[in-house]
Amino acid sequence: MSRKVLVTGGAGFIGSHVAEAFLARGDRVWIVDDLSSGRASNLPEGAEFRRMDIGDDALNELYDDVGFDLVSHHAAQIDVRSSVADPRRDARINLDGLLNVLEAARRHGSRVVYVSSGGVVYGEPEVRPTPETAPKLPRSPYGVTKLAGEQYLYYYAQIHGLEYVALRYSNVYGPRQDPHGEAGVVAIFGRRVLEGRPLTIFGDGEQTRDYVFVGDVVAANLAAADLPVPAGTALDDRAYNVGTGRETSVNALAREMMAAGEREVDVTYAAERPGELRHSSLDTAKLQAAGWAPRTSLRDGLRQTLDHIEREMMAR
Ligand SMILES: NC(=O)c1ccc[n+]([C@@H]2O[C@H](COP(=O)([O-])OP(=O)(O)OC[C@H]3O[C@@H](n4cnc5c(N)ncnc54)[C@H](O)[C@@H]3O)[C@@H](O)[C@H]2O)c1
Repeated sequence: MSRKVLVTGGAGFIGSHVAEAFLARGDRVWIVDDLSSGRASNLPEGAEFRRMDIGDDALNELYDDVGFDLVSHHAAQIDVRSSVADPRRDARINLDGLLNVLEAARRHGSRVVYVSSGGVVYGEPEVRPTPETAPKLPRSPYGVTKLAGEQYLYYYAQIHGLEYVALRYSNVYGPRQDPHGEAGVVAIFGRRVLEGRPLTIFGDGEQTRDYVFVGDVVAANLAAADLPVPAGTALDDRAYNVGTGRETSVNALAREMMAAGEREVDVTYAAERPGELRHSSLDTAKLQAAGWAPRTSLRDGLRQTLDHIEREMMAR
C-alpha cells in the first residue's frame, strides 16, 4: 500500500537516500529541509520539496494539508563540535524543532521513525559492541539532545499513544556525505586519496569506529517503517542500533581507502583532538533478529563512495 511519507532533512546525506528508497517502493514522499547543510542537488526526483525550518508553523500547515502516514525524522544539527560551541542552537533544532514535528505527528496519528545516534548516546561505553541497554552517558550537547529526543518520543508514546521506532546509527558513510558528520573522515580521506594528497590522522590513529554503509542504513529505515510496535515499556525497547559491530581504526581506514582507490598517499600525524571518543561499535543483534543485516563490506562501500566523489570532482 502506498503511503504518504514526510522525510525531514531529506536534502541531506542520509535522508536523501532514505527518501529515494521510499519513492522506489511506491510511496509518496515530501521533503522538508532548510538546506542549512543539505543540498538541493541531493533531492530525489519525484519528491515534493518544501524549504523550511522544522520549527516553522508552516510545517503544521503542510501536515494538515497532506496528513502523513509516516515521518522519517532526519533533520538535525549533526556537528558535535558546533553543539559544544553553541548548545542553544543545537537544542533549538534537535529538540524544539523535533517537538514541532511530534506535535503534528501526534495530532495526525502518524508513525515516527526517529534518527538517534549510537555513536554519541552511550558516551565512552564499557561494553563493545554496545547493546541498546548499555548506560546512556552522552558527552556532548549533541549526544544529550539525541537522547532527549528519544525520551520525548517515549513520553508521546506513553501518554498520547504515538507509534515510534528510534534508530541509533553508528558512523554512516557513503555517496553524498560531507566532511562534517560523524563519519566525516571518510569524505575527507576519499577526496585526498583521489587528489593524491597526504592524509592527516589526529592522535595515534588507533581510535576505532563502526563504519556502516548508507545503503545498509536505508534498509534499516525501510524495516523500521514496518516493524510491529516493539514490545516492552523501557526506552531501549523502542530503539535499534544500526551498525556493523566491527571496529575499524583510523589507520586501517586510511589503508582501506588507499586500497579501494588503488593509490598510495603519505600519512602524517597531528595532535589528538580533545574529547574524542576512543572506541565505538554497536551490537545490532536486535535489528538482525527482525531480518535486517549490514551487507556491504567496507571495501565495497568505500569504492562506491570514491566513485561518487570522483564524479563530483569531475563535474566541477
Ligand atoms: N552521518 C552519521 O554518521 C550519523 C550518525 C548518527 C546519526 N546521524 C543522524 O542522521 C541524521 C542525518 O544526518 P546526515 O549525516 O545525513 O546529516 P546532513 O547534515 O547531511 O543532514 C541533515 C539535514 O537536515 C537539514 N536540517 C538541519 N537543520 C534543519 C532545520 N532546522 N530545519 C530543516 N532542515 C534542517 C540539513 O539541511 C540537512 O539536509 C541526523 O539526524 C544525524 O544526527 C548521522
